[in-house]
Amino acid sequence: MDPIQTAESVLLEAKDAEKGVKDQNSLAEFFNRFLSKKGKASGLMALMREVKAENKASFGKRVNEVKSSIASFYEQKKQELEQKELEEKLKKERIDITLPGREQIQGRKNPFYQIIDEVEDIFLSMGYQVVSGRDVETDHYNFELLNVPKDHPSRDMQDTFYFDAEKLLRTQTSAAQAHAMVDNIDKTPIKMICPGKAYRRDDDDMTHSHQFAQIEGLVVDKGISLANLKATLELFVKKMFGEKREIRLRSSYFPFTEPSVEVDVSCFACQGKGCPMCKGTGWIEILGAGMVNPKVLSMCGYDPEAYSGFAFGVGVERVAMLRYGVDDIRRFYQNDERFLKAFPGK
Ligand code: DAH
Repeated sequence: MDPIQTAESVLLEAKDAEKGVKDQNSLAEFFNRFLSKKGKASGLMALMREVKAENKASFGKRVNEVKSSIASFYEQKKQELEQKELEEKLKKERIDITLPGREQIQGRKNPFYQIIDEVEDIFLSMGYQVVSGRDVETDHYNFELLNVPKDHPSRDMQDTFYFDAEKLLRTQTSAAQAHAMVDNIDKTPIKMICPGKAYRRDDDDMTHSHQFAQIEGLVVDKGISLANLKATLELFVKKMFGEKREIRLRSSYFPFTEPSVEVDVSCFACQGKGCPMCKGTGWIEILGAGMVNPKVLSMCGYDPEAYSGFAFGVGVERVAMLRYGVDDIRRFYQNDERFLKAFPGK
């Protein structure tokens, strides 16, 4: 066959074959058949030898046209197929962004622990150390060193969970006071608070829980007076319950302090006018405190002639109940999500 005719027939054949190219496989076949090294279009130039000299130029030109026509079909088809594949893939893997996501429930601190954090921050800013006491105590630290001898009537008020005659669950974080003083071997000044749990054999009701939390505070140094205690508690109460709050000290009795006081805060619900929260008195009892009893100082190894100190104990649940208007102490321990959700976490 005349080389020119061969070239034209390859082009015709290719045009015909193009119709059958539907996918990557048939495209690859097409490539092999026409454009690969041994393909029909690639072989055309070899026919140049058979072409007369005067026709060589036009033959070469035509062969190039044939080849580029086939090659451009191939390139275009290849792109088309790739595009189609991509579109199909995108369609198949489409993410339905209207589908509601899975809710991540974020846990937050029990309001009770939020109060402890806040109290710690207040006292840390005043230069106090935060110490952690122990839940299992001895009679010696929980009572004896705090001037509560075996037959002391106040022991009845603090009906105790005993493990044996000596070991018990502490009934008050005040045990941490005794530890702070005894454990301080050099008898240097002390300024600490101790948040922790305490336990008493109480029947649980709205205002009592057999397990509760207290924050104990203790300052021992030279020249500490009741005025220092009052100023410290005033600052604490203002930071905790608002700048407008005032405190009043009422005389009271605790074996480990002398004198002892009960501290009231002016009612933050009615601003002192009298309301159900303060039972009409305008004042809410908030904590117990006093000057460390010289007997306690001396039992714990401090010279009461040289040193004096003050101490206080705050009920954490009581503060939380007042702050958040919670009416039942048991709520803090029930892990009821509806209750916990009501408190904004920090
Ligand atoms: N421990 C006392 C209680 O549980 C509270 C208390 C009162 C602590 C006076 C003190 C204090 O440190 O000085 O009722």
